[in-house]
Amino acid sequence: MQVTPLQGAGAEITGVDIRHLTPGEFAAVRQAYADHGVIFFRDQSLSEDDHIAFARRFGPININRFFQAHERFPEIALVLKEKEQKTNIGGGWHTDHSYDAEPAMGSVLVARQLPDAGGDTWFASMYAAYDTLDASTKAEIADLQAVHSARHIFGSAPDNHYKANRDTDSRIGNAAAADVLEDVTHPVVIAHPLSGKKALYVNPAFTTRIEGYTDQASHELLARLYAHAMNPAHAHRFKWQPGSVAFWDNRATWHWAMNDYHGERRLMHRITIEGCALN
Ligand code: SIN
Repeated sequence: MQVTPLQGAGAEITGVDIRHLTPGEFAAVRQAYADHGVIFFRDQSLSEDDHIAFARRFGPININRFFQAHERFPEIALVLKEKEQKTNIGGGWHTDHSYDAEPAMGSVLVARQLPDAGGDTWFASMYAAYDTLDASTKAEIADLQAVHSARHIFGSAPDNHYKANRDTDSRIGNAAAADVLEDVTHPVVIAHPLSGKKALYVNPAFTTRIEGYTDQASHELLARLYAHAMNPAHAHRFKWQPGSVAFWDNRATWHWAMNDYHGERRLMHRITIEGCALN
C-alpha cells in the first residue's frame, strides 16, 4: 500500500482493496486521513454493504436529515443530479455539518454514475489555509468563535438556498428540521481532533458570523479568510472515474462539487461519519 500526497490537498492511496483492510492497512489509512485531510482510492469495487462496512470502521454513521436516502440503505445519502436538473448538491465551497454542535467527522463518497465529462470535486486543505495565514491574522483569529447555521440552506423560507433552486425539491427535504436548528458556535481555529494540527474552521456555506464582531467587521474578516483559503495552491481538483472513492475530513478540508455537466446524470453515494465537539 502506498500513500502519495497530491498537489494542493489530500493524498491518493494505491495498492489496497478497502473491502479487506488488514489491521496494519487500516491504521495506515487512518493515519493518512489524519495527515492529509482527504484521501482518494481508485478502482474499488464496493457494494452498498461494503461501503457501509468501510465507513463503520471509522465511527458511527450519521443518518442525513436533509438528503434523499438510498431506498434500501438509509445510511447512504444520495448526491444526485438528473439530466434535466440544473442545480447540483454541494455546488459551492463548504464543509458538511458545521451547523451541528458535534460536526460530522467526514464522509465517504462513492461514484455510482458519472457524466462523460465534468463533475469533478475540488478539495481545499484547511491545514494549509491556516498555516499560510500571516502572523497578524493568526493572532487576530486565535481566540475567536464563529456562528454556524443551516437554516438559510436547508430551511423552508422561499429564499433559502435549496428552496430558491426549485428543482432540488425531490433531493433535499425535511426543511422543518432545519427551521428549528439552533445556531452553534465553534472556534475559528481548531486543534484537529485526530492530528492535533491547527485548521481554519469557517466556511462560506454555513458560517454566518464571527461572534462579538459587528456585521460589517464579521463580513470583512470572513471574506478575507475565504479569499485566502480558496487559493488553488491549497486545493486539489479530483477527477472521478468508475471505482473512485473519496474520504474527506470535514474538520480539515472544504469541498465543492462542480456543476458543469448539464444534460447528464451524476449519482454519488455518500456516507457521513459522526464527529465530536471541536476545541
Ligand atoms: C457533497 O458536497 O457532499 C457532494 C460532493 C460531490 O458530489 O462531489
